[in-house]
Amino acid sequence: MFHLPIRPRRNRKSEGIRGLIRETSLSAANLIYPMFVQEGTENTPISSLPGCTRWSVAGLVEECRRLIDLGITTVDLFAVVPDDKKTPTADEAWNPDGIIPQAINALKNALPDITIMTDVALDPFNSDGHDGIVEFRPDGTYEILNDETIEILCRQALCHADAGADIISPSDMMDGRVAAIRATLDSEALDNVSILAYTAKYASALYGPFRGALESSPKTGDKKTYQMDPANIREALREADLDINEGADMLMVKPATLYLDVIAAMRAHCSLPIAAYHVSGEYLMLKSAAASGWIDERSATLETLLSIRRAGADMILTYAAPQAAQWLREQ
Ligand code: PBG
Repeated sequence: MFHLPIRPRRNRKSEGIRGLIRETSLSAANLIYPMFVQEGTENTPISSLPGCTRWSVAGLVEECRRLIDLGITTVDLFAVVPDDKKTPTADEAWNPDGIIPQAINALKNALPDITIMTDVALDPFNSDGHDGIVEFRPDGTYEILNDETIEILCRQALCHADAGADIISPSDMMDGRVAAIRATLDSEALDNVSILAYTAKYASALYGPFRGALESSPKTGDKKTYQMDPANIREALREADLDINEGADMLMVKPATLYLDVIAAMRAHCSLPIAAYHVSGEYLMLKSAAASGWIDERSATLETLLSIRRAGADMILTYAAPQAAQWLREQ
């Protein structure tokens, strides 16, 4: 026998002791489920995002009833917009009779306790597929207009808040939009509506399946003039300082697993609640590896979500939310 007075394995010797010293928890209350809603009565499974569906308003309500039973309190709504409603100025984004206000009304009527977050950005409504208004110049170059976009984002945020959204979640990465949205909401006595800012949203390769689900890919170029360079972390803290000063209630890092260092840095940097978005590509990497029999979906998914919590995220947006909540219940 070695003389080893210090043996860390003593703290791992039984499930009881492991439970006593466990540093991080994961529960359904930490999860937010991103959901897609479309006009009409069809619920359409999304082949590029297995397990996810483009819901009709009625289908959305029924699915949310199931989520609440699983302990998931909050959903994030994204609009599926038919091509003939997309315009260069994304006018449908703030239509009070549009699909998002309809969905909010129906959900709040049927399930008054549900927490509704809505995505604010122009891409599903913009015929150019960008998060902001695109100005094309005669010389063939183009620019995503910041301040003109913010005006429309404010109308969109107001439209969602008027319909009863609890949390407005701007995912566009325009400069100054949190302050502008806050001021707009406050001027309409909607000071109780929260803002979850996409603070450090990176120009990631992992959004492809989501853009397929919404048919919202940019028609020209990429999103690198507004989404962040994956090489940068100090810039994320600069964005955090801005969003805090502009009145954000919660900050987000997106994607999650490739950016755990950013989550941890932001956690150390400020006291606001932090969300992480486990995006479509990250979800599909797990799904496809599991479908091939290469990993165990359940343990790999729960380990992934736990790791995002360990890095410092309070809440996680994930397409795995219902399945994870079910697994956590069975544990
Ligand atoms: C766009 C938006 C995107 C996602 C959420 N909001 C895609 C993008 O920026 O192109 C991606 C989510 C995912 O991949 O799951 N405003």
